[in-house]
Amino acid sequence: MDSIRIQGGIALQGKVRIQGSKNASLPVLAATLLVGEGSFIRNCPRIADVHSMTSLLKSLGCSVHWQEAGIFVDSSKVRRGEMPREAVTGMRSSLCLLGALIGRCGEVTMEYPGGCVIGERPIDLHLAALRQMGVVFSEQKGQLRAMAKRLHGAHIILPFPSVGATENIILAGVAAEGETILEGAAREPEILALCRYLSCCGACIEGAGSSKIVIWGGRRLCGTEFRVPADRIVAGTYLLGCIGVGGNIFLEQAPAEEMDAVLLAAQEMGGHVCITREGLYVQAPVRPLAVKLITSPYPGFPTDLQSVALAVASKGSGRTDIEETIFENRFRIVEELKKMGACIEQTDSHRVAIRGVDSLQGAQVEARELRGGAALVAAALMAEGESFVRGCSYIYRGYENICRDFRELGARVTSV
Ligand code: UD1
Repeated sequence: MDSIRIQGGIALQGKVRIQGSKNASLPVLAATLLVGEGSFIRNCPRIADVHSMTSLLKSLGCSVHWQEAGIFVDSSKVRRGEMPREAVTGMRSSLCLLGALIGRCGEVTMEYPGGCVIGERPIDLHLAALRQMGVVFSEQKGQLRAMAKRLHGAHIILPFPSVGATENIILAGVAAEGETILEGAAREPEILALCRYLSCCGACIEGAGSSKIVIWGGRRLCGTEFRVPADRIVAGTYLLGCIGVGGNIFLEQAPAEEMDAVLLAAQEMGGHVCITREGLYVQAPVRPLAVKLITSPYPGFPTDLQSVALAVASKGSGRTDIEETIFENRFRIVEELKKMGACIEQTDSHRVAIRGVDSLQGAQVEARELRGGAALVAAALMAEGESFVRGCSYIYRGYENICRDFRELGARVTSV
């Protein structure tokens, strides 16, 4: 079931419930390691990356049980911070286990983390910050080894608001002795979710969601129950998808309060959005209008929705310019969209200019990473005729069931 067959050209209609957030659930699951008791994490999405994370937690000695409403994780038996090779290389988010395990065990051995192939993904900011907190790094048989005789608070200034580095500093800071002051922190809602979970467990954290976070570490943490918020990127995928495909839809539980930049872009493209307590109504324009988009850290337009915006612009009226400032090599769908008749010029590794065409045609295309893959499904829904998107295992890393979701919105989509 690695391909998706799509019959395009049908306007979307209906409602879909938005799954729990991938980027919030993964660091929260990593954080259960610090607690040493059982936690129940509700609304975790049933996606490949969460399954990989729970396997990693199990391999570290956690007892993990999936239930209807969420995942129960008990980390009381964790003793050693040694992670199996295969699990780590496939998933970038395994990197936040570094901060959690250093906090819990004082030592970690792990592979350099993997993830989507979207440009250089160095970890220098993570390492520099943890060094300031007393961690010593070495390389052993090609693996990364981290040791902290005494993990202590520090005053850390991040030169770039890296999401992953902010998560690692928070996780290590909660376990460290004394005060950690983090300036230049990422402000993504997923950081807030992580801090909320840790605070529910008894951690003392101030400033989460702002660029300055202060953590008073070393407190005893207890297990808790926590609900993962809805996924703003999945909601944004369906929202922008509707703008491109046409129709009107309701995104139940969409976290509109975290989606300002995306809602603005959707409105500039000619869409109408209406926020209610239950979710988000979207009405598509006859044809998407051309816009200028620049990705940036939160609260800017998210890099994770750049590909789907690009797909929508392919059928827009006029010229859209997109600048990707977070990652290079994140325009891997350009060649695939061209197979559908899109007219896109890539100026350099950070910029594309798209001249909207009247219609796209169905084609056989290949997903090469998670968000680009979802964008190809959206493009195929916009195209006339039948398309096949191959390489869909990437998509399942982040979307519980993209076929079911689009079917609920009236699309003809099947996994084959
Ligand atoms: C990034 C996105 C996040 C998205 C995720 C998955 C931002 C700011 N972050 O998070 O929203 O959900 O990818 O697509 O939009 N960097 C370094 N050294 C480091 C760490 C990062 O130079 O040690 C650079 C990266 O190369 C990149 C930028 O910082 O250019 C963003 O990295 P970071 O936020 O850490 O990436 P993720 O945590 O993967």
